[in-house]
Amino acid sequence: MTIDFQALADKYGTPLYVYDFERITENYRQLKDAFAGQKSLIAYAVKANSNLSVIAHLGKLGAGADCVSGGELLRARRAGIEPYRIIFSGVGKRDEEIELALREEILLLNLESEAEMKRVEDVARRLGKEARISIRVNPNVDPKTHPYISTGLHENKFGVEIDIAKRMYIYAKNSDWLDPVGIHFHIGSQLTDMEPIREAAGIVADLVRSLAAIGVEIRFFDVGGGLGVVYRDEEPIEVEAYARAITEAIRGLDLTILCEPGRYLVANAGWLLTRVLYEKRNGEKRFVIVDAAMNDLLRPSLYDAYHRVEMLTESEGRGEATPADVVGPVCESGDWLAKDLELPPTEPGDLLLIHSAGAYGFTMASNYNTRGRAAEIACEGGSCRPIRDRENFEDQIRLELGHLEEE
Ligand code: LLP
Repeated sequence: MTIDFQALADKYGTPLYVYDFERITENYRQLKDAFAGQKSLIAYAVKANSNLSVIAHLGKLGAGADCVSGGELLRARRAGIEPYRIIFSGVGKRDEEIELALREEILLLNLESEAEMKRVEDVARRLGKEARISIRVNPNVDPKTHPYISTGLHENKFGVEIDIAKRMYIYAKNSDWLDPVGIHFHIGSQLTDMEPIREAAGIVADLVRSLAAIGVEIRFFDVGGGLGVVYRDEEPIEVEAYARAITEAIRGLDLTILCEPGRYLVANAGWLLTRVLYEKRNGEKRFVIVDAAMNDLLRPSLYDAYHRVEMLTESEGRGEATPADVVGPVCESGDWLAKDLELPPTEPGDLLLIHSAGAYGFTMASNYNTRGRAAEIACEGGSCRPIRDRENFEDQIRLELGHLEEE
C-alpha cells in the first residue's frame, strides 16, 4: 500500500520503524505458492523481526515459527502460532528452554551436537515426554555470502558433520526418549547463488536415503532460511527455481518441506524513518547527522551493509547534491547509516527513509548510549497503527531502580 511516511513521522516521531503488512503477505504467498504440490510449512525465522504483531500476521497466513531461544518460542506462542508449527533451532539450548519446548509439544527440536542430544534425552526422560528431533547437518558447502552470516562450512560453529549426524540418528532411533523425524541444514543468510543450495540439498537428501536404508525414517526436510533480497542491485534467487531445486533433490522421498525464511519475508517490507539534526564538515568531509543511529539499525556498522537512504523532504532549489556520510549521534566512529550518499544541502527536520530495514533492524537494536528503542508501526488495508511504543527513559531504568543504593 502507499504509505504517508511524512504523516507517520509527524504523528509518532522519529526514529520510527514502519512495516507494510501487505508486502509481508505477498512475500509469504509467493514462497508458499512456489512449493504448491509439495507438503510444506513456512516456519518464519522470528529472529528477523520478532514483533508480536508481525509474528501474528504471518501466523494468520498459515506460517509457523522458527525460534532460537525460549524467548522467541514464547513470543511465537503468545502471537498465536500453534505448537505443531514451531521449530526450535540454535547451538546452545539451556535446560529450561528444552523443557519449555517439550512441554509445549512443538514440532521439532533441531539438534546441533551430540552433547545437546544427550541433554535433550535427559530432559525428555525427566519429563516423561518423547522429544521429536531433527539434526542440523553441516554439509560443508560455501554459500558465498558475508562471512558473519555464512554457516554451512565446517569452520563455522553450526551443525554436525555427516558421519556424526548418522551416529546421532542411530543413537536417537534406539532411544526411548528421542524420535528422529527431521533433518535440517542452513548454509547461510542473504544467499543470492542457487548452486550452493542445490548442492547442500543434494548432500542432505542423499543422507536421508542412506538413513532410510538403516531404518531411520525422516519425515521433515528442513532447508533452513537464507533467501537473499535486494538491498542495492543484487540478483535474488527466484523462489520458483529455489523450490524446484529442492523438490528435485528429494525426488522419490515422502517428505514435508520445512523452510525457515526470515529476511525474505520482512526485509523489504520495512523502513526506518529518521530526521536530520545537523550538517557539519570536517575538512573536506561532509556529515549529515540524523536522529537514528547504530543502536537502531546495526547492520551498516556490523556488516558494512548497504541500505538505500532516500530523502523524502522536497529539496528543490537548495543547491547541488554532494556526497555525505549519514551518521547517528552515538559516540562511535562506526556509527554510520550510509556512506558517500549524494544529498542536497539538508536542513534540520528533513526526513530520510532508510530502506530494507524490516529484517534484523529492530531485533538487533539496543539501548546503547541510553537511547530508547524506536516505536514500530504496521500498515495494512489503507491505515497504519502502532505495534510497539517508543521506549522511554523509565522503561530503560526499571530493572536498576530497585538496586540503587540510597545515600
Ligand atoms: N534458520 C536458521 C537456522 C538461521 O540461522 C537463520 C538466520 C535463518 C533460518 C533465517 O535466515 P534468513 O532467511 O533471515 O536469511 N543479522 C544478520 C543475519 C543473521 C542470520 C542468522 N541466521 C543480518 O542482519 O544480515
